[in-house]
This record gives sequence, structure tokens and C-alpha cells, in this order.
Amino acid sequence: MNGFLTIQGQPTLLLGLQTQNSTTGDPELLAREIAAVRLLGGNLLEAPVYWCDIEPQQDTFQFDSVKNLIDRCREAGLHLILLWFATSKNGHPNYAPEYVKAAPQTYHLAQARNGAHVASLSPHCEATLTRDQNAFCRLMAFLAAYDQPAQTVVMVQVENEMGLANTDRDYSPQAQAQYEAGVPDCLLNITLEDMGVTPEGNSWKSRFGRHAHEAFSACYHARYVQQIASAGKAIYPLPMIYNVMLGEQGIEEAGVNYNSGAAVGRVLDIYKAIAPAIDLICPDMYVPDRERYLRVCERYTRADNPLFIPESPSLGIANALNMMEAFARFGCIGMCYFGANYMLDNRGALLPDAQELAYSMRAVANVAPLLVRLRGTGNVHALVQQAFMEKQYLRLPRYHVEATFISACAERHGLGSRINPRDPENDDIFTSPGRALLLQTGEDEFYLSGAGVKVDFIKRPDPLEEDSYPHLTSRQSGTLNFLSVEEGHFDGDQWVVDRQRNGDESNFALFVHRGQTVRIRLNPHR
Ligand code: DGJ
Repeated sequence: MNGFLTIQGQPTLLLGLQTQNSTTGDPELLAREIAAVRLLGGNLLEAPVYWCDIEPQQDTFQFDSVKNLIDRCREAGLHLILLWFATSKNGHPNYAPEYVKAAPQTYHLAQARNGAHVASLSPHCEATLTRDQNAFCRLMAFLAAYDQPAQTVVMVQVENEMGLANTDRDYSPQAQAQYEAGVPDCLLNITLEDMGVTPEGNSWKSRFGRHAHEAFSACYHARYVQQIASAGKAIYPLPMIYNVMLGEQGIEEAGVNYNSGAAVGRVLDIYKAIAPAIDLICPDMYVPDRERYLRVCERYTRADNPLFIPESPSLGIANALNMMEAFARFGCIGMCYFGANYMLDNRGALLPDAQELAYSMRAVANVAPLLVRLRGTGNVHALVQQAFMEKQYLRLPRYHVEATFISACAERHGLGSRINPRDPENDDIFTSPGRALLLQTGEDEFYLSGAGVKVDFIKRPDPLEEDSYPHLTSRQSGTLNFLSVEEGHFDGDQWVVDRQRNGDESNFALFVHRGQTVRIRLNPHR
């Protein structure tokens, strides 16, 4: 996959929520969580399928809960990503059937250096792989039969946040034998950053130095999911994704700060070489600070891996801001917040702490057709208010753009259209942290979508213009240089104008509140 997911012939931006872990067996909770997606204007639900639920006894299968998930999403007009909770749920085997859990002599746990068992099924155990793969294939066969015409299920996540905690690799006898067998040929041209050795030979140590154990663990986890994903695709070729508990944490040592064998940034090349059946390797993005957020986006955005974020916080402010950078700078093709239910109060209304995230999702959803059209063109910009920031400057070919964050300026005049900024109930629009997408759709045409931001466009001097100063300082080349300012929304690819802004509603500021979208046509003749 190298761009947006194509659904029924349409490249589609996926935006929505992931359910809580135990929702699939709880119809009432599922209804609440689907309602939450609709409240936010999303088009996607992510929900788990439990191995222990579909195969409660060995070789006895039931798909009622999966059918119910599909039916409810289909009714609600939502796309669905199924999450295969099987051998691994955050590295642990909680969702394996009892017949697997109760037979550790057949379905081995991984072992630490001292021989102690760790709370993960070993990725080196063929018996577990065979059973997991078999159940997964049964699931894919069910989907092919039940869902192929409607395609409510658009992707499947294989396992959940795999990897081994509290050990740098599996030391069980099978694992040890594979470690001693050396590095497979397909990894011989791969190097990892900061290995500390010049690679030679084919032992794990001589090729990957200080990251040898992690590389080995990644290789065999990748092999495990590859076998499951490829067998499933042979039955029903849906795109497959794989989510990752991030390695960009703390001192960045596998098994200490994160699970060893997870597809963390450092070992992505290993995963790509071993697991081509996985279409997208996806960061679970619980990262509040911008610097690390950008680093993670950068690592997971590759020509062979467009950025898809299957989990991110559903409360607070950081994600409401950082996500704009994912869409603008990294061409993010989809995003979910985790734990739909966490966003709602007992009556099903949005909690105050979820409000800013709801506005951000609305702002992004509002311009979905433009994000699809403009991906990779450099014409999507993020305006995001960082600490102490009052303004942000962008230099575009024809315009200086100066964004002012509304929460940082005292001036309240000219910021109202429909929402009366003088009503104290609307005070939030002056405290909302500023963030928006600015999308350039023509030389002199822009869309602004977000909250807490106003922008000014100042026409830049032509290089050969002798006397540009009067233009630069004239209001006609700045705040008044628009042909029209329209508040609106998209219906499919069609821009629909809800109302025109002019006079006081445009002559002082071109602004957005609470996830609004405006189309701004500037005057090329000033
Ligand atoms: C990441 C996991 O993938 C989710 O299933 C969930 O456990 C969240 N962490 C946190 O609640």
C-alpha cells in the first residue's frame, strides 16, 4: 500500500475510534461506542475479535460476535477494522482459548535468560502458530462469505502489540536453536542504527552487534505474523495491519522499556523484509510531546508504509494538537482515538476532556476530500500552537501567511459568525489551543479547518517589482485581499457553502472555531 486505502473504488481517509477491549461481547457498550464515532463525525470503528470467543473449544468455531460487529457498523454506515486478539494482546496470551492456555507443554511460553517463563506465548512455537493461523483463516473465510459484497470490514489487524516484556529475547530451547542457526539470508543486507559493529559473518552478534537479541526477536515475531497474515490473505485478501507499542521510550532498550520483538522504529527494515503480507506497520501513538511525536511519525512514514495511527488518546489536549502535524506533514492516511466509551458521560454526551479531540477530528474529517487530493503535494500545512506561542509564520510561494492563535490574543473583535463570541457560554473559543490545517487548493485559494486560529495572507512582492513597499503595507494587499470567505462543508467531493462571511466577520480576521472549515479565495489582483 502506498497511499490511502481504496474502498469501493474510492481512496478513503479513515477516522474514528477504537472500542474498549471488552466491547465486542457487550451489545450495549458497542452501541454507545458506535454512537461516539458518529458524534465525532468519524467513519470508522476498530473493534477486537477474540480467539477464545470464536474457537471456545478446539476446532469448534462460532462467529456470532463478529457478525454482530459487522451488522452494527453496517447499519451505522461505518467502516470496520477487526483486531485479531489471539496469541498476543499487548504481548500476553489473555485471549488465547483455554485449550491453549491449559497446555503449556504444547503451546510454549517464552523463557527469559534464567529459564523463567515470561507471560507471552513463544513466537518460536510451531504448535501455537498452527492453531492461531488456523483460527485466523476460519475468521477470514467467515468474512469472505459474510462481508465480501458490502465490505464493511476494510482491514484486519493481526495480533495486538506483540513482543516480550522483561527479557531481551526468548531463550526457550526452540528459540535457542534458531538463534544458533544464524541470520537468514534475507536480512544480510540490513543494518540497524547504532549497532556498534561492522557487519560480517552470519551470527546474530556479528551482524547486529548490541541489537543482536532484539533483531533476532523481531525476525521471529515478524515471521510469526507473516505466516498468519499470508495464510489469511490467501483466503480473503484484505489489507492487514500490525500495531506497535512504541520503542521510542526512555533509554530505548528492548525488554526494558518496551517489548522485545515489537516492530519498533529501529527494526522496521527487518519486519519489512520478513513480513511483506503486513501492509501497514502502525504506531500506537500515546506520545504527548511534539518532538517525540514527530520522530515517531517520521520513522513510520515510508514509501512502503504510509502512516496509519490505530490508537491515540481520546482525552486531553496533546493529541488534538499533534495530530494536525501527522496529517499535514506526514500524509497520515487514518487515525483512531482509543477507548470510544472513555469520551462519553453516563448519558452518552461528550465529556469536557474529550471536547478538543472531537473538534480536531471534525476539522480533519471536514477536509477529507482535500487531504486525499493533496497528499504528497506539500500543499497541506499544520498551524499548531506550542507553549508560549502567539503566532506562526508560513512562507508560501505567493503569500506570507501569519497565523495568530486566538487564545494568545486579547482582541475579540471580528471573531463571530453564528457563534456569538460575547456570550460567556462561548468563552471556550478564546481558550481553545490553536490548531488548524491550511490547505492550498489553487494559487490564490485556501481552506482553513481547525479551532482557535486566525490567519492573514500578505501578498509577497514579485521578484522584479521595483516598488513593492506600498503593497506590502497596504490593507488591500493584506487583511482585505479576499474575493470571498465561505463557511461550509464537503458533500462527497463537492464544497457546500453554509454561509458567506464578509464585513466584520472577515475584515478583521479569517478565523475558525470548534472544528469549523472556511474556504478563502484571495484576490490575485490585490
Ligand atoms: C494499547 C493496547 O493496544 C490497547 O488494546 C489498550 O490496552 C491500550 N493500550 C491502553 O488501554
